[in-house]
Amino acid sequence: MKILVFGRIGQLGSALAEVLSDRYETRFIDQPELDLTVPESVRDHVQTYLPSIVINAAAYTAVDRAETEPELAHIINARAPESLAYACDEAGAVLIHYSTDYVFDGTASMPYTETAAVAPTGVYGQSKLAGEIAVASATQRYVILRTAWLYSAVGHNFVKTMLKLADSGQPVRVVADQVGSPTYAQDLARVTRSIIEVLNSSREDCFGLYHVTNSGTTSWHGLAQEIFRLAAHQDVVVQPISTEEYPTPAPRPAYTALDCSKLERVFGLTLPSWRDALARCIDSL
Ligand SMILES: NC(=O)c1ccc[n+]([C@@H]2O[C@H](COP(=O)([O-])OP(=O)(O)OC[C@H]3O[C@@H](n4cnc5c(N)ncnc54)[C@H](OP(=O)(O)O)[C@@H]3O)[C@@H](O)[C@H]2O)c1
Repeated sequence: MKILVFGRIGQLGSALAEVLSDRYETRFIDQPELDLTVPESVRDHVQTYLPSIVINAAAYTAVDRAETEPELAHIINARAPESLAYACDEAGAVLIHYSTDYVFDGTASMPYTETAAVAPTGVYGQSKLAGEIAVASATQRYVILRTAWLYSAVGHNFVKTMLKLADSGQPVRVVADQVGSPTYAQDLARVTRSIIEVLNSSREDCFGLYHVTNSGTTSWHGLAQEIFRLAAHQDVVVQPISTEEYPTPAPRPAYTALDCSKLERVFGLTLPSWRDALARCIDSL
């Protein structure tokens, strides 16, 4: 089975390369060969390689910058996935695509299910939601995985930022009133591989939208404390602050725990706790 993956050097793309390359015939493409700012161009890649599965791990992920580049975010996160979904449909390939907890406004007090009302508060979330809708309209044979607070040993992310700050000798101020589920890109990649195994067994009843995060929730403050504990930086003082004290161009949802029970029901898959995942990531650094 041939798998074409968009986005090789991102957090998720790198993890997918680790878990898929030894098991499947894979081709990873990234910029400049892949240019999602030209949505029509993605069709050629699918037509040339003729994969059974296409994984789109590429995206515009700069949440704050998106507020000043709404058109670019929309092209990369919505128009390009739409074009890709049409190309997959035409070629008979299944599309695996990723979305975000930021499609929710964060006002819930219980974990969001896949059918919960969406209401993104910023341009990034709006562009990713438009991508979900466009993919689902263009093909029936898709799997969209909504994930959250992604981190890994590569790329830019909260975990690596905290570890850099640890050496400053200064107290670190971290937002304590936003709650979500930190998710290790390696675990998301492994779940993707397990889903591919199911798709490979010709099951046709599992297409659709799924929530996929490491289990459990915490705040950014709680996550920072755990990072410093695991990295043996207990000396670092982590001061809790409010969202108001840390204004950002894109408003952040306060609560985005995702209910992942559909993933367990349909695929029999569950993810480890966020603490377990974080420990593995920090060990790998
Ligand atoms: N990061 C998070 O906290 C988070 C949370 C929830 C959901 N997600 C979703 O999870 C998925 C993976 O995210 P990630 O954190 O792995 O992203 P990432 O590390 O930012 O990687 C994104 C990838 O997309 C590529 N890309 C960006 N613009 C492109 C363009 N115009 N043409 C071609 N490729 C382009 C990047 O290439 P360059 O590096 O060369 O630009 C990079 O390889 C995305 O769908 C994202 O929306 C992420």
